[in-house]
Amino acid sequence: MIDAIGRPQSVLVLGGASEIAQAIVAKLVPARCRTVVLAGRESARLAEAAEAARAAGADVVETVAFDTTDVDHHLAFVDQVFDRFGDFDVVIAAAGILGTQGILERDPVATASLLAANFTGLAAALVAVAGRLRQQGHGRLVVLSSVAGIRARKANFVYGSSKAGLDAFAQGLGDSLEGTGVGVTIVRPGFVVGRMTEGMAPAPFSTTPDAVADAVVKSIESGAGVVYVPSVLRWVFALMRLLPQVVWRRMPG
Ligand SMILES: NC(=O)c1ccc[n+]([C@@H]2O[C@H](COP(=O)([O-])OP(=O)(O)OC[C@H]3O[C@@H](n4cnc5c(N)ncnc54)[C@H](OP(=O)(O)O)[C@@H]3O)[C@@H](O)[C@H]2O)c1
Repeated sequence: MIDAIGRPQSVLVLGGASEIAQAIVAKLVPARCRTVVLAGRESARLAEAAEAARAAGADVVETVAFDTTDVDHHLAFVDQVFDRFGDFDVVIAAAGILGTQGILERDPVATASLLAANFTGLAAALVAVAGRLRQQGHGRLVVLSSVAGIRARKANFVYGSSKAGLDAFAQGLGDSLEGTGVGVTIVRPGFVVGRMTEGMAPAPFSTTPDAVADAVVKSIESGAGVVYVPSVLRWVFALMRLLPQVVWRRMPG
């Protein structure tokens, strides 16, 4: 149960090897989060994320195989995880790929695959997760969206549209869960300097996994519905939405 000051005792991460999720877990565990379940594609990186959670002092740390695109198995997967580990105070939806726009916009298979990983497959998994959270009657679902979904840019519209879809889905899901004891937090980071953006020139107002993690932990405590990281992006993107299309089209990549 999330305690009186908003500190969760158990967390399930979908996309368990995510650098941002790892930064969040690194803050939750010392604040008394005892159970950490990292769901992801099997890899050395996933095992390392589990090792880091163990080293931080969590009592129960497990990795479980999970792929967002494996939609036929989401219901069984979620049931198994909740049956095995009990209630989860927090579920973090962190799985996602950035892709390479130049390839994506010429390759329908790669585009479909990114949309399935980031949006349709992950949203399908969240339907299963929401079912169990609704049943337990408490908990917070943290969905890693992006400012890229607020208005798709020509330089990354495939990724941007996947985040727009996920973000809209999470908004509706949050509304549908009102009154159940379950809350949804949508996190909209800007450019995060880290593994996903390695080799790219940082965009204005860039941030770090650690800063995103700070904002997420705060939002779990406060029950905030939408979080921008850094927070100034709320106003920057409110303006971006209003730019005439002719100007928007000329925005640099
Ligand atoms: N980094 C940024 O600039 C930024 C900005 C805004 C939003 N975000 C969002 O924040 C989230 C976390 O990003 P991050 O920076 O932590 O990137 P990351 O370290 O690359 O983490 C993304 C994780 O998603 C997993 N993943 C990808 N496709 C998957 C699939 N089909 N099934 C299961 N897992 C899958 C990856 O697994 P593998 O380890 O197996 O590859 C990886 O562990 C993502 O949703 C991203 O879109 C990131």
